[in-house]
Amino acid sequence: QTLEINLSALEKEGFDHFMLKEIYEQPRSIRDSMRGRLKAREGIVLLGGIIDYQQKLVNAKRIIIIACGTSWHAGLVGEYLFEELARIPVEVEYASEFRYRNPVIYEDDVVIAISQSGETADTLAAIELAKSKGATIIGVCNVVGSSIARATHAGSYTHAGPEIGVASTKAFTAQVTLLTLMALMLADSKGTISKSRFNQLLHELDDIPGKVEETLKVNDKIIEIATVFKDVRNALYLGRGYNFPVAMEGALKLKEISYIHAEGYPAAEMKHGPIALIDEEMPVVVVATNKGTYEKVVSNIQEVKARKGKIIAIVTEGDETVKALADHIIEVPETEEMLVPLIATIPLQLLSYHIAVMRGCNVDQPRNLAKSVTVE
Ligand code: G6P
Repeated sequence: QTLEINLSALEKEGFDHFMLKEIYEQPRSIRDSMRGRLKAREGIVLLGGIIDYQQKLVNAKRIIIIACGTSWHAGLVGEYLFEELARIPVEVEYASEFRYRNPVIYEDDVVIAISQSGETADTLAAIELAKSKGATIIGVCNVVGSSIARATHAGSYTHAGPEIGVASTKAFTAQVTLLTLMALMLADSKGTISKSRFNQLLHELDDIPGKVEETLKVNDKIIEIATVFKDVRNALYLGRGYNFPVAMEGALKLKEISYIHAEGYPAAEMKHGPIALIDEEMPVVVVATNKGTYEKVVSNIQEVKARKGKIIAIVTEGDETVKALADHIIEVPETEEMLVPLIATIPLQLLSYHIAVMRGCNVDQPRNLAKSVTVE
């Protein structure tokens, strides 16, 4: 007699797909990415991997973030974080564009390269270019010892653990976690944040894994919503401020695994084009959590409703205003505006996952896509 072991099923730990397992791992992967680095009670952020370059970062007149795909979206969140907290101007670049346009790079620029695999060819080439011009290169990679990790001067690993699903999920939230820690550390050393605000943010960040756990409870609600929208051909994702990259990432997830055309847009830009697409068939996913430009996003929702678009809104628990306007709402726990991407991303990952499963798509290995793109 032989004992048949289905290795892949074992590795999925009871989940139907790696992607779902990885979505559910996020309370842990975010916690692991902060472990030993965030000491909320002591009021300390310590990133051992970049400590020798901390002064370079403090003195940087500019940060250039280079990445591709989902990592580029994490970089966009990083832009908001570094500018708001550490008051350093940030440019976020697609590695493939940056490397081919003879970019202006100064010796006192700090380049942050973000890559899950650490093997993306364009990102690696962009690093080499920036390095040859004398810039300091800091890596945010998930795979230890990867080519990009080795090509950088210093860096901090995301401790998301191996990511198998081609569509990136837990790596994204781990990247955003690391960028948040870096921005906080810099803000503290530059004195661009008060001690009390700094401590408040550290405590809130420390609570994020618990809130992500809480957010995962929206799964059943998402299955209902996915059932309604699984056959659509297009979808629009809107958000503003920190939620703009969240909308872009939500749209990317949907296209990658369900092959539905989806676009992420800053909500206010809708009137400069996408609004023409809205009719009663068009689902519009709006990230409308209760901070920042919330009131403006509510107006954007009204504009969509006036054109009979179907609103699926991600809102803060207890929201009544958007509830009255939206066709479907997904409630998530309240947090600081700058930490919202870590929470609001979760339901969008689940939405794309369930829609793709219902459409019979190969969720873990979508057609034409590769986990790591080692050619340009
Ligand atoms: C591919 C993957 C994406 C990933 C992108 C960048 O397109 O399918 O999930 O975001 O590459 O990869 P990296 O490993 O550099 O983060």
